Amino acid sequence: MLEKNAAARQKLHATRGAREERRAELVFERTDLPAERRLAHVQTRGRAAHVTLFCDGDEITNLLEAHPESIAQRPQIQTVLDAVAPRDDDSRMVAILNAREIEAMRRAGEAAAATLAHVGERLQPGVTTADVDAWVRAHTAALGGIPSQLGYQGFPAAVCTSRNDVVCHGIPRPDETLADGDIVNVDVTTMLGGFHGDTSATFVIGEASRETRDLVAIARACRDAGIAVVREGARLGDVGAAIEETARAAGVSVVRDYGGHGIGRSMHMDPHVPHVGTRGAGMRLRAGMAITIEPMINAGGPGVRVLSDGWTVATADGSRSAQFEHTVIVTKGGCEITTLGATAPDRATTLPSCRARP
Ligand code: MF3
Ligand code: CO
Ligand code: CO
Repeated sequence: MLEKNAAARQKLHATRGAREERRAELVFERTDLPAERRLAHVQTRGRAAHVTLFCDGDEITNLLEAHPESIAQRPQIQTVLDAVAPRDDDSRMVAILNAREIEAMRRAGEAAAATLAHVGERLQPGVTTADVDAWVRAHTAALGGIPSQLGYQGFPAAVCTSRNDVVCHGIPRPDETLADGDIVNVDVTTMLGGFHGDTSATFVIGEASRETRDLVAIARACRDAGIAVVREGARLGDVGAAIEETARAAGVSVVRDYGGHGIGRSMHMDPHVPHVGTRGAGMRLRAGMAITIEPMINAGGPGVRVLSDGWTVATADGSRSAQFEHTVIVTKGGCEITTLGATAPDRATTLPSCRARP
């Protein structure tokens, strides 16, 4: 998952600032454009002048509705408005995959899902997280893939193993033995054919308490609630809101400092995908975008801390944390999950798994 760090926030603000500036410039300040490409002739009514400066894409559309005659006579103006519409502005940072690239994403996703299932079948009390790392290396290689996480920004292992109060980015260790009642998230990312598939599941080892089993079930339900709203035209805020509401209804919290991410030719790409949000806010999704949805759900508060190894993220209050992740490709009517795999790896819970919706 991607850290929602200060640099990322800065970038977000910078993007928004530039957008507003550019729109203002196009509408009011550029005198060097040919007359028909300026909006000077557009007679603004009511809020129109204001919304042109500060609005989002929907309000730009409202401006078009307010002045249909002028727009119809000036097709160039439509072009200018299309060019500055924020849905395109934000989403311009995000790759749109073509049919061949989507096919490659399917193969990478299938490989990651198969490796996760392979590991899941072998987990039992007495297994160490270093065993998991060895299995991931061997299985990924047997499929012709490369573990994307090995060496990523110096990460020292092929897989993340996050046990009990560890939220994410846990480093496998030979002295970390899984015991009856533990939970462990195994996060597999595979590069195959130049593209990445990223998927994780939280497994219950032996018999766990009712509270722990519920937490795991809720985490999966949160991921699936997020996936369920993905479709062309939906906004990232819709995804975050669906996850946040599911968690809140269950009395657990969503980690805010890390989120999902765009994925494709790199493991981590634009956009950042928050697991909290406001319906109707955020970037619009477009068909062909690939993102991960991977909410981290804490039994206690949402706060996290990074341990002294510089990687392991744990809950601030010591409560347990669970997570499930899929890679999805946005389609017109929904999304395709590339990491569903033949065997559902998240067998730890009894909730129905989210299916692909072409
Ligand atoms: N697979 C993780 C994710 O879901 C990436 C972890 S980065 C690592 O985004 F370096 F810690 F491996
Ligand atoms: Co991810
Ligand atoms: Co992952």
